[in-house]
Amino acid sequence: MRMTVIGTGYLGATHAACMAELSHEVLGVDVDEAKIASLKDSKVPFFEPGLPEVLERNLENGRLNFTTDYAEAAAFAQVHFLGVGTPQQKGTYAADLTYVRQVVEDLVPLLEGEHIIFGKSTVPVGTAEQLQELADSLVKPGSHVEIAWNPEFLREGYAVKDTITPDRIVVGVREGATAEAIAREVYATAIAADTPFLVTDLATAELVKVSANAFLATKISFINAVAEICEQTGADVVALADAIGHDDRIGRKFLGAGLGFGGGCLPKDIRAFMARAGELGADQALTFLREVDSINMRRRDRVVQLAKEMCGGSLLGKRVTVLGAAFKPNSDDVRDSPALSVAGSLSLQGAAVSVYDPEAMDNARRVFPTLSYASSTKEALIDAHLVVLATEWQEFRDLDPEVAGGVVEKRAIIDGRNVLDVAKWKAAGWEMEALGRNL
Ligand SMILES: NC(=O)c1ccc[n+]([C@@H]2O[C@H](COP(=O)([O-])OP(=O)(O)OC[C@H]3O[C@@H](n4cnc5c(N)ncnc54)[C@H](O)[C@@H]3O)[C@@H](O)[C@H]2O)c1
Repeated sequence: MRMTVIGTGYLGATHAACMAELSHEVLGVDVDEAKIASLKDSKVPFFEPGLPEVLERNLENGRLNFTTDYAEAAAFAQVHFLGVGTPQQKGTYAADLTYVRQVVEDLVPLLEGEHIIFGKSTVPVGTAEQLQELADSLVKPGSHVEIAWNPEFLREGYAVKDTITPDRIVVGVREGATAEAIAREVYATAIAADTPFLVTDLATAELVKVSANAFLATKISFINAVAEICEQTGADVVALADAIGHDDRIGRKFLGAGLGFGGGCLPKDIRAFMARAGELGADQALTFLREVDSINMRRRDRVVQLAKEMCGGSLLGKRVTVLGAAFKPNSDDVRDSPALSVAGSLSLQGAAVSVYDPEAMDNARRVFPTLSYASSTKEALIDAHLVVLATEWQEFRDLDPEVAGGVVEKRAIIDGRNVLDVAKWKAAGWEMEALGRNL
């Protein structure tokens, strides 16, 4: 099948390349000329394991191409995926739908004949209906554009696997729409492998995505709230999470107490969900998400507070190493990153902060140019008075406390992700703190 993918960021570039991998003919479209030039040149402009190989293979076999030209996109295919950003609006909690609307405004007047736009961006419930009205008002006489919603559940770091073998496919359609049949063709490989294929109305499909993210955020903040109680009582949140996680109604995943969630999705998605509930006159339904957000943000403050205590009450003049800048391992995404937020706060309180991340250095430098960036873990650790493990990259999990201890000024560490072997680090003479534990 021929298709375009409009917006070639983390979601769109992955979707475009993976659809070509599944034998479709794909044209990726973006307004960012540098991004398109990079993708055409077989360079993924962000870190995503496995994606460079898929991109290169499909550029070479001719199934994949990229453009900034909407006219080319309009002529190329009758099926279009929309994956542009829906960031938080400045000054409010609501999602900014400017980019999503812009795509419809720029694409639809160029379309001839029957077209389907599958929205993949995460949007407030009701957006697809509004976009359908917008498309109806812009489409050429005699042509027709159908809007369907096909939310994306990929995880950065596992995006290729999640796109090629998703755990479920959700398609929201209007009554009598042709989108379901088209989606079945697009996802034929996954459907043949018994992947659950769920067809809903538009509103349900939009809500599935934000509800999933709200649930995940709530689960993380739940354990982090319990961590606060553990800190007050001498209990251990890691042992507690193991114990409750054995209950298969609860499950151990997403019960990792620590610095909490960040990134380009969960924080803005729960806020947009609350904002939308307010617009719908149902704000009470989601006020608990405000608390989920606050618990999450408090963990960042807690790490800064612990750092201060471990530095004798003041961070002034202390050298602090922050290991990690990405919002999670296996990604270079620093959007709303807890690690960078902590690094920034430590710096603002007078510490000399040295940051190292295996993949996110360039992005981190752009967001926080005032921090200093080391070129390796070892360089970052030199002469540190305190180390903060803020993103749980394998490289940091594997750190040898003796080797690290030989480089720092003082053996003191905060395990912000509860991933280090406490006994081993303590045996090597490290003073250690972690979230939700009394070490
Ligand atoms: N990143 C993820 O893991 C993920 C997962 C699921 C859902 N989502 C959702 O997918 C959407 C995109 O997220 P992302 O992380 O890929 O964002 P991103 O910022 O990496 O990519 C968005 C892209 O859209 C492009 N764009 C903006 N306006 C455009 C226009 N008018 N025409 C063409 N391109 C345009 C931008 O240049 C950019 O390349 C968001 O709604 C997000 O919530 C993201």
